[in-house]
Amino acid sequence: LSYNVAIVGATGAVGKQIIRLLEERDFPIQQLKLLASKRSKGTIVEFKGKDLVVEEATPESFEGVDIALFSAGGKTSRSLAKIAVAKGAIVIDNTNAFRMDEDVPLIVPEVNMEEAKNHKGVISNPNCSTIQMVTALKPLYDRYGIERIIVSTYQAVSGAGNQAINELIVQTKQILDGKEVTKEILPVSSLPKKHQIAFNAIPQIDVFEDNGFTLEEMKMVRETKKIFGDPSIQVTATCVRLPIIYGHSESVYVELKEEYDLKEVRELLMNAPGVVVIDDPANQEYPLATDSAGKLDVFVGRLRRDLDHPRALNMWIVSDNLLKGAAWNAVQIAEHLIRNDYNESK
Ligand code: A2P
Repeated sequence: LSYNVAIVGATGAVGKQIIRLLEERDFPIQQLKLLASKRSKGTIVEFKGKDLVVEEATPESFEGVDIALFSAGGKTSRSLAKIAVAKGAIVIDNTNAFRMDEDVPLIVPEVNMEEAKNHKGVISNPNCSTIQMVTALKPLYDRYGIERIIVSTYQAVSGAGNQAINELIVQTKQILDGKEVTKEILPVSSLPKKHQIAFNAIPQIDVFEDNGFTLEEMKMVRETKKIFGDPSIQVTATCVRLPIIYGHSESVYVELKEEYDLKEVRELLMNAPGVVVIDDPANQEYPLATDSAGKLDVFVGRLRRDLDHPRALNMWIVSDNLLKGAAWNAVQIAEHLIRNDYNESK
């Protein structure tokens, strides 16, 4: 069996990684449609040695498509995803458009893959920062329960797309060359005020909500509860953009419901699917964003007991935000769908 697959946002930071993964994993594809905005129409992209031409994404693009992977921003998903479903496709959506909708499963395969079978045509991929955190916390949740999470993130610019990557590179050069810095994209391209990202730390990712948290921070709060199916988990997040191109890092303080043994925690994490423990302070071994780039796993280290709270644990979680945080999580879901009669509940 092979499938007609569409990638919406095929020219974007995430879309390019999806193409690479489908090729590397030899996903059974009959026809691959690469879709983007009008701007990219006619762009040639190589897939398995053949040249494919990028088309403009329109409602007609989804005729005969079995699986559509969307990574072209919330607006594009809101306007085209339901049309794709009406034409018979299953949509795996990387944007924030439908994540909190009650009839849309929000899936991290290592955590709640079984919920995908309840889909009504759309399956959402969570936010990148949430995915890597819940993947690492899953074995601890299952063994001890989780009462509270306090997380601070150190996020790469690629999470804001190709233009943000370019902005970091351009600004860095401008500063090193003693030139004036141009600011066009970050922190939020749709807002008028911009801040320099080169040599900086910006404590704003996405727009602010009325409660003083940013939308990125609230995604971590809401999505964590939904993925674990446990609204009682308390989550506080501070999300920060740093001048890093690939790989999000997170400092996570987690209060478990039961007392724990640190050795057992380490073993649980070492045996957890999709998780790799790198934790040897004596040899200065811990996860680094630079090492995570290009890898599919979630890396965990700096495991240490809290000094005051007997049930609290501190850890450092790193993953490639474009891969496990986006493209790989989506392709994992697609692989699961085709292994398990992909259309079962539609
Ligand atoms: P394009 O390259 O033609 O602008 P990134 O996250 O790296 O910024 O990429 C965003 C992706 O979403 C790109 O592939 C971009 O295409 C695509 N995109 C943006 N707006 C639209 C739109 N209105 N319709 C379809 N694709 C879009």
